[in-house]
Parts: sequence; C-alpha cells; structure tokens
Amino acid sequence: MSDTLTLALSKGRIFKETLPLLAAAGIVPVDDPETSRKLILDTNLPDVKLIIVRASDVPTYVEYGGADIGVAGKDVLMEHPHAELYEPVDLNIACCKLMTAGKPDDEIRSGRLRVATKFVESTRRFYAEKGEQVEIIKLYGSMELAPLVGLADRIVDVVDTGNTLRANGLIPMEHIADISSRLVVNKASMKMKHKRMQSFIEHIRDAVREQN
Ligand code: ATP
Ligand code: PRP
Ligand code: MG
Repeated sequence: MSDTLTLALSKGRIFKETLPLLAAAGIVPVDDPETSRKLILDTNLPDVKLIIVRASDVPTYVEYGGADIGVAGKDVLMEHPHAELYEPVDLNIACCKLMTAGKPDDEIRSGRLRVATKFVESTRRFYAEKGEQVEIIKLYGSMELAPLVGLADRIVDVVDTGNTLRANGLIPMEHIADISSRLVVNKASMKMKHKRMQSFIEHIRDAVREQN
C-alpha cells in the first residue's frame, strides 16, 4: 500500500473549504466527518484516505509521516517554525488575519503587558521584533474573554469579520500576519511517492487557480 496517499484535514472550515479543491482533483470522501465518528475516511479513490485530526495537530501528523499531505492554517504553521515540511501550495481558503486586540479604553499600566493567546510562538516573535517585553499567557480558546476578566491586557487571535471582537467589546489593534491555509507535504513521502504526490499537488494547484 505504499502508493496510498493519506491526507490530514481538520473538521469544520478547513474540511468544508478543501472539499471543492479535492473534488476538482477527482477526490470525493465517502463519509462526512461531521456525522461519522470515523477518523480514517475512505474516498472514491481506493488509494486516497483522509484522516481527521485537530487543526493544530496537522503539521505534526505530516512531519512524522502519519499523513503524506495535510491542510493547515498559516497561523498553525507559524507555531511550528522548525517543522520539516514542504509548503508547496497556498490554497487561499480559511483566510483571516492574526492580530493583537484589546479594550478600547485601555489604561496604561506600569509593568509588562500581559498577552493571552494560543499562538505563543508568533506572539513571542512579534513583541520581540518590536523590542517589547511582554508576559505571554497560554490559552487554548475563548481568548476574547481574557481582557474582560482582567486576565490579560491584550490578546493575539485570528480575526475575520471582527464580529467576535465586537461582540466582546474589543477592538483589533496591530496586524501580525495575513493567514490562509496551505498544503503541507511530508519530505520523505515526496521522495518515495514522487509521481503520485506531484500529480496530486498539480491537480490542487490547478483547482486553486480555477477558484480564484
Ligand atoms: P480547534 O477547534 O481544534 O481548537 P481551530 O479553532 O484552530 O482549532 P478552526 O476554527 O477550524 O480550528 O480553524 C482552522 C483554521 O482556519 C485556523 O488555523 C485558521 O487558519 C483559520 N481560521 C480560524 N478562524 C477563522 C475565521 N473566523 N475565519 C476564517 N478563517 C479562520
Ligand atoms: C475563530 C477565532 C475567532 C473568530 C474570528 O473562532 O478563534 O474567535 O473565529 O472570526 P470573526 O472575526 O469573523 O468573528 P471559530 O469560529 O473558529 O470558533 P472556535 O472558538 O470554536 O475556534
Ligand atoms: Mg476556530
């Protein structure tokens, strides 16, 4: 089965937005991850399987060869700066911005700024480049809550419409990075299954071109 391609996707927006690209490459999943409890999904092609993992685990699965290929947000990839991965295609899906945000009526406190985020690595790099010493508080979600309860002065999170920030009385502040999802590829698979992988990547690249 060495010619089987295993693709790692996360449920939700990445799965939904990747589906049309896969379809254009002739790949249609047999099961729906929103209703099935299966974590390995068959497709119409006997040599292509999908595995369903947490968004932040996609680079890990692909780096270690648990999947040949994956789809991961640039925000997630930026948290794995040393991952041994190829990143051959910007899929231009799940687009958003990584930003700092906070309360509009921010009082200037003495001492270090406290920043709550699940994007610890990008946050550390952003403030280091500004030469600003901050205390980073790692969270796993609901970052918008942190400034409201006094846990942090700022958050770093992804922003699309800004609705979540607005709903919580926060405002976007500094732009850190434009985010979209990328195809990521295991380096050994690229060598061992070169023809199959190259053909898949080209099909996806064409599908992205057609969508944009
Ligand atoms: P988990 O639910 O496992 O904590 P997650 O919240 O990061 O992970 P998703 O919400 O499916 O998972 O996000 C997947 C990717 O989509 C993110 O890594 C980011 O690149 C992008 N993304 C996140 N939120 C938005 C949004 N509101 N609009 C557009 N793209 C987004
Ligand atoms: C993401 C992100 C923000 C929100 C930003 O949450 O964590 O909270 O989207 O998008 P907006 O600017 O359009 O409001 P998501 O919808 O993925 O929910 P989650 O908390 O379950 O990850
Ligand atoms: Mg999310």
